[in-house]
Amino acid sequence: MDEQRTVAPQAEPEEIVLDRALRPQRLDGLIGQDRVRENLRILIEAAQGRGEALEHALFYGPPGLGKTTLAHIAANEMGAKIRITAGPSIERAGDLAAILSNLHEHEVLFIDEIHRLGKAVEEILYPAMEDFALDLVIGQGPGARTVRLSLPRFTVIGATTRLALLSAPLRTRFGAIYRLDFYETADLARIVDRAARALDVPLEPEGREEIARRGRGTPRVALRLLRRVRDYAQVRGDGVITAQIAADALALLEIDGRGLDDLDRRVLRAIIEKFGGGPVGLDTIAASIGEASDTIMDVVEPYLLQLGFIDRTPRGRAATRLAYEHLDIPYDDGAQGTLF
Ligand SMILES: Nc1ncnc2c1ncn2[C@@H]1O[C@H](COP(=O)(O)OP(=O)(O)OP(=O)(O)O)[C@@H](O)[C@H]1O
Ligand SMILES: [Mg+2]
Repeated sequence: MDEQRTVAPQAEPEEIVLDRALRPQRLDGLIGQDRVRENLRILIEAAQGRGEALEHALFYGPPGLGKTTLAHIAANEMGAKIRITAGPSIERAGDLAAILSNLHEHEVLFIDEIHRLGKAVEEILYPAMEDFALDLVIGQGPGARTVRLSLPRFTVIGATTRLALLSAPLRTRFGAIYRLDFYETADLARIVDRAARALDVPLEPEGREEIARRGRGTPRVALRLLRRVRDYAQVRGDGVITAQIAADALALLEIDGRGLDDLDRRVLRAIIEKFGGGPVGLDTIAASIGEASDTIMDVVEPYLLQLGFIDRTPRGRAATRLAYEHLDIPYDDGAQGTLF
């Protein structure tokens, strides 16, 4: 299952501490995501110039690309405190009302998995974000009335892996929405390099490239591969991560040259071998290999799309020629003729 995948981009519990230690604290320390970084820099400097709270900002994109990191950086740059919560942990409207009424001027409220807020909770958030107001209902039944309390100027930073699940009214309340993309291999290499220094791991440039190339464009995955390869280097070698050590370690983990693992390959093989190359719906693929469609949607599909191994069509996902080549399966133009 997903928890055991070395390339799963979701954080494992013991990684959270390490994540924190390796997390860049300032915009200048952020590697990659140039477009997001520069846009965020302007948002921050503009707010500072006016002496205002940062505008509400939303980060979205696949897991492990730096949404939480960016939320912390934004608060640090603003010199503001950050309060951290998550959609599923705010169960009732009253929970959010309590959080909001404890905020101070210019503080950041970070709401992770913001697409999982309940409807009643969201409705508290709308006036809070828009008018810095908290509408409280006093009493019950026909005698009930609403009292509007004013809140300090604060900032909501939301993060989600599923922008499509965010309600339209909530989405429009964010002044800035940033999409995080997969990282270039060169940027991942720099991230791996910096982590190796921080962890005091001897890393040769070719070993670093090997790890970066298989890191799925995802810092969290690349950093995890670095740790697995470090273990291997220590046990099977002399501790130094060379190209050979990295390649051997990753082969043992069954992670191929493009960072695909067994699950990714099973998905591709299912499309090709069971569904004639597609198009086929994600749920059907998931059912045919006995995996959760959420995992495939959040984790497998975005990376395969990024590699150009699958295409998204109105009738489902289709494997591309690149996928066939990668798996060494002969590509028959005629068979895919309906699509291409
Ligand atoms: N641009 C970056 N430069 C250096 N390290 C980074 C960068 N982005 C992310 N990281 C590293 O990757 C780890 C994962 O990032 P982060 O926790 O911010 O991802 P996320 O998008 O919030 O993931 P999730 O969707 O699972 O919450 C961080 O702890 C950090 O060490
Ligand atoms: Mg996060």
